[in-house]
Amino acid sequence: MSSPDSEAAVAARPILETRGITVRFGGHVAVNDVSIAVRAGAVTGLIGPNGAGKTTLFNTVTGLQKPTAGRVLIDGEDVTRKAPYKRARKGLARTFQRLELFLSLSVRDNIRVAGDIHHTGLVHHAGRGGAGVRHRRDLDAETDRLLELTGLTDVADQDVSDIPTGRARVVEVARALMTDPRVLLLDEPASGQTEKETEDFAELLVRLAADGLGICLVEHDLPLVMKVCSHIHVLDYGSCIASGDPAQIQNDPAVVAAYIGTEEVA
Ligand SMILES: Nc1ncnc2c1ncn2[C@@H]1O[C@H](COP(=O)(O)OP(=O)(O)OP(=O)(O)O)[C@@H](O)[C@H]1O
Ligand SMILES: [Mg+2]
Repeated sequence: MSSPDSEAAVAARPILETRGITVRFGGHVAVNDVSIAVRAGAVTGLIGPNGAGKTTLFNTVTGLQKPTAGRVLIDGEDVTRKAPYKRARKGLARTFQRLELFLSLSVRDNIRVAGDIHHTGLVHHAGRGGAGVRHRRDLDAETDRLLELTGLTDVADQDVSDIPTGRARVVEVARALMTDPRVLLLDEPASGQTEKETEDFAELLVRLAADGLGICLVEHDLPLVMKVCSHIHVLDYGSCIASGDPAQIQNDPAVVAAYIGTEEVA
């Protein structure tokens, strides 16, 4: 029988890990032996040129894409063979590079609808110390709280199709938060945002991490990445070419040659 993990071991353990993930599409290696770690209470960056394999790695983590090799662990548990909904119940949530919102629903309803995971996800909720199925008024209250937290209250009753793309990106984040995740994967969330929207968004990410959430941020806005991330992994042609803090990454010759030299870091 295995002994229970010590408190220190649990605290040091990443909330999300990939170990040696490889994804092949025919003869093309989209992700090549990639190991990354995402810690609770911090924002971890995942950057690299177009086609580097970032979205494919996210798809593998969430269970939409089967890896050719390697493992995915959530809070130390191997979930490589688990269905996406089971990973969601373990606290994994994401947003999509191409927005996946209900355009003809209001901002409020787009967020609220994600609360349904608690109705179908008894195990997830009860297993984390919750009281089980939430009531309608709890969902309403939680939706209001998230609208406030993400700065969307003023557009809550507008259809998503009527708000700017930059704010629709935040709706996706709020909707993901409605599932009460422990780890959140964001795929280019600042794309389409104005400078002011990105400033507010950076503050939101820092606040969410301070509350204990583990965030993995895929983003081409390098000033944003350098500002909010404590640790960054860099992919190029499917391989991880560097991992480190923002200063290490910005001064890494291989990263500058492959990516940063072609992007703007203010
Ligand atoms: N379903 C698929 N079938 C075949 N090839 C794919 C598939 N999905 C992705 N690819 C290829 O895998 C590689 C990685 O793509 P991916 O979308 O993961 O890159 P990315 O880092 O997210 O790029 P971007 O910054 O442009 O979003 C690319 O060469 C892409 O063309
Ligand atoms: Mg992508």
